Amino acid sequence: MRKVSAVISLTLVLLFALSAVPFKADKLFTPVTEAKAETEDVLLTLELWSDTHIGSKNAQHYLENGVDTINSEENKADGIIVSGDLTTDGAESEYRTFYEIMSKINGPKLVTANGNHDYGQTKPRDEHRPVAIRYRNRYVGVDTQKDYYSTDINGYKVIVLGDEGSKFNGAVISDTQLSWLADELEEGAKDGKPCFVVCHWPLKGDHGEWFLWPIIPGGHIDSKPTKKIRSLLEHYNNVFYISGHLHAGLNGELARRLFNSCCVKEKNGVTYISVPCFGEGNRFGVSEKGTGMHVTLTKDKLLIEGKNYLTGQKYSKYVYEIGVSNYNPPEDTPAEPVTPETPDAPQSIELPEPDKINNIAA
Ligand SMILES: [Fe+2]
Repeated sequence: MRKVSAVISLTLVLLFALSAVPFKADKLFTPVTEAKAETEDVLLTLELWSDTHIGSKNAQHYLENGVDTINSEENKADGIIVSGDLTTDGAESEYRTFYEIMSKINGPKLVTANGNHDYGQTKPRDEHRPVAIRYRNRYVGVDTQKDYYSTDINGYKVIVLGDEGSKFNGAVISDTQLSWLADELEEGAKDGKPCFVVCHWPLKGDHGEWFLWPIIPGGHIDSKPTKKIRSLLEHYNNVFYISGHLHAGLNGELARRLFNSCCVKEKNGVTYISVPCFGEGNRFGVSEKGTGMHVTLTKDKLLIEGKNYLTGQKYSKYVYEIGVSNYNPPEDTPAEPVTPETPDAPQSIELPEPDKINNIAA
């Protein structure tokens, strides 16, 4: 018993000691007290979901409920990004269920990434990967056999990274994919244009992956590709890296104090966003199911609001405001005045009878 107490005490001391280590390059966002979601000059709105885990208990019900919430809202987002673990076992029936439900979303453009569960946790990934890609291509409108691809939402580039290996949990990012990422960033993020990079896995050291996945390896992308990815992202002003995988909820001051961690952080000018688990609840932070993030981009900031999509309610205590720097979106150019054409010679117009006028559609 004494030994157990000693181990617990030592662990607590270590955790507090680690929390005091000043990671100077990281800025952890603590939620702002006043939500400032209603802004003029909105350039883009997104819903961020992750780890919907179709196949897990009640996950289908939560997803249907979330889609109903979005469809019932008056102001629809421009896009919805689901950052992996769409399914739990990577079975074809699970993909079908996921995409058939998501295809009922009326308005926002769908973008998905694949996660470790989408490749199957029990079978070789090579068996599942083609199925995952086939369904994604059909429903997201992508035309590639690679797991990584890019698209845009409302003119803003979304770059989706993908695993190319066969590890149990982690991801393999080849040099070819990194080179492709460099080209995509140059196209999408130059001149300070906000750009979104989506990957199921966080980069090593982010969002408390070291204590959330302490034993089983694979809570993050390995050190070597992490370094390379960070250096590519850091070339640009307003890049946002969106990940899932950790099943860690929305975080506030407590997580920062205890674990020096938060679901939104900045490192060397790049913002890293860890999206809560939607379908199975969360291990840490706000644990509720159906949680995600509503994102609003303006010229000056990116506002992230924690949101529960089962109720449609936002978490007013979990609002994160990130500055957007040196970005000048192109002004709307006024339409050229139309010069009226010289009217043709008058023709006889047949008018409807008076009692039929009200039935003519406007
Ligand atoms: Fe997951």
